[in-house]
Amino acid sequence: MIKKYEFGTPINTEAVILNLQACTDEIEKFRLSENEQEELIFTYQMSAGTKVYGLGEANRGINKRGFCYVSYCTDEPSHTEEKTSLYGAHNFLLIDDEREKFGVFVDNPGKVTFDIGYEEINTLRIIPKYRDMVVYIIEGETLKEILKSFRQLIGKSYIPPKWAFGFGQCRWSYENAGRVDEVIKNYEKNDMLISSVYLDIDYMKDYKDFTVDEERFPDFKNYVGSIREKGIRLVPIIDAGVKIEKGYDIYEEGVKNNYFVKDKDGHDYVAAVWPGYTHFPDFLNQEVRKWFGEKYAGLLDAGIEGFWNDMNEPAIFYSKNKVEEIKTALSERDVVNDDDRLMNDIRWQFDKVSNNSEDYEAMYHNMNGVPVNHDRVHNLYGYHMSRAAGEYFNKYEKNDILIFSRASYIGMHRYAGIWMGDNCSWWSHILLNLKMLPGLNMSGFMYVGADIGGFGCDVTEDLLLRWMALGIFTPLFRNHSALGTRNQECYRFTGTKAFKNMLDVRYRLLPYLYDTYLEAVKKDEMMYQPLAFVYPEDEIAVSIEDQLILGEDIMIAPVYTQNAIGRYVYLPENMTFVKIVAEGKLVTEKLEKGVHFIKVDLTEVPFFVRENHTLPLVKASVITDKGLRKSIMDCTVVYKDSDFELVG
Ligand code: GLC
Repeated sequence: MIKKYEFGTPINTEAVILNLQACTDEIEKFRLSENEQEELIFTYQMSAGTKVYGLGEANRGINKRGFCYVSYCTDEPSHTEEKTSLYGAHNFLLIDDEREKFGVFVDNPGKVTFDIGYEEINTLRIIPKYRDMVVYIIEGETLKEILKSFRQLIGKSYIPPKWAFGFGQCRWSYENAGRVDEVIKNYEKNDMLISSVYLDIDYMKDYKDFTVDEERFPDFKNYVGSIREKGIRLVPIIDAGVKIEKGYDIYEEGVKNNYFVKDKDGHDYVAAVWPGYTHFPDFLNQEVRKWFGEKYAGLLDAGIEGFWNDMNEPAIFYSKNKVEEIKTALSERDVVNDDDRLMNDIRWQFDKVSNNSEDYEAMYHNMNGVPVNHDRVHNLYGYHMSRAAGEYFNKYEKNDILIFSRASYIGMHRYAGIWMGDNCSWWSHILLNLKMLPGLNMSGFMYVGADIGGFGCDVTEDLLLRWMALGIFTPLFRNHSALGTRNQECYRFTGTKAFKNMLDVRYRLLPYLYDTYLEAVKKDEMMYQPLAFVYPEDEIAVSIEDQLILGEDIMIAPVYTQNAIGRYVYLPENMTFVKIVAEGKLVTEKLEKGVHFIKVDLTEVPFFVRENHTLPLVKASVITDKGLRKSIMDCTVVYKDSDFELVG
């Protein structure tokens, strides 16, 4: 049962696909009031035991209680605990109270604050900055049932091609063909399976979207083809900002046709990102989406089959306006004689320069004929960038294209997946990776994953191995790291055998993972469920936040602390503990319901098969006629019984 309530004049976000009649009576479940800033407040009184799930890509726990989250797509490169906004805005909550269970979706693309027991421990407050919105209340008997109704409301999730479940290697940047070749050669040399190599911004000519630097990647089409022959896809990045450069076709066309976001005087808005000063395509406009989407054709024609869309919150390093403000402020100071306050003030000015709300408030869209201030629709920008691509791919004759994005809003899940942005090589980020999975699935985002090994900071071999033992189970399985950090490809470390085995495990699991993914999409279910959803009667299971049920059959419980020899797990039912150890051998042990300490070596992959369930493992690879070892995914294989191993 879904009830729809409209407030003000809602902006059509196209997050939902069902056309429901709005209720005319007062909203249920929430008490409405106003604060001093005349913002609307939706209040729900929780009890001590109320659980609140959802919010997709958000910090902290699976149960979101005890913190305040702000839905506002943000280029946030440091995911420390106090951060309230990350890259996505997924305004869906699932409330599990003794008295009732229901879901709430606040379809409002401006800033929305979710105070879930932060100001007052038992009070949930939802405070949208702007009042124009639709709120949906979804009722049902069980959490799963509510979730299914919500997912039916927002439509089927994106399905990537199967190869996108293979392992991908990325770095900012493999800046020329030589570097890419070297990566592939090293994977091959170490007998490690790999399905994709990602191209970061340096493949472009001066960071201009849809260009390829011919000096770094000569004869790109042939090059893409030669890599493809090895069973590997190149996946280039596309950024939101279009470089301002006379003669650059995308810039010229955008200016001529008024396709860029404007300032209040109707001039194309200017802000700096990687290419220097750029304009932002107005993706909220249908005509602009069509135009930008078609631009992917050039790379598709060169044989590219996948993309990642970045910087689409949109990230702003500094705007032309801010630079002018700083210049004016400095010109009013005596730069030669000023005291140390000068440096302090300058530092302060610069600290505030990136991604600030004043810039977002100064931008304007043309939403299919209607002028709209950016701040009111901020959270739609990344969604509509990926929608531009997705809509084009759906029309393209080969519509099996990988696409995932950094910024997102519910609705984008129908067109693309996401990655969790710029995490760090920190142990705590393995756990954060795990905790985000169910929330993202609730909001419809199924093709998801984190930068394995961590994007920022220097990785260590043990951290990477432990992280891979989780990443093996996530749809997007990509190792990515930032410029200036330690190289973190799997062959860089001493334990190459262990990494080879880890990668093999992924390919052995791949048919299971892909089928589980398809099933979850088909049935509008989660691929990763918190234990609370599967064992709602089990008080201990309900409180567990570092184990997940994957599909119907297995439970994952990675080791995520340094120097650990294993970890404690709670089994809500009897299960078979499985370890895939060196050389791919399986060690299994039947364990009874209850608490156990399991020993897991750095090189091992642990998981649990539920009682009366089995897990099929296939062979990771086959040897081709040419004597090459290829992942099973790249070959047309007719499975024989002996190719399978059933565990459980
Ligand atoms: C952003 C992305 C990161 C990418 C970098 C350079 O920080 O999140 O993945 O490597 O930009 O393009």
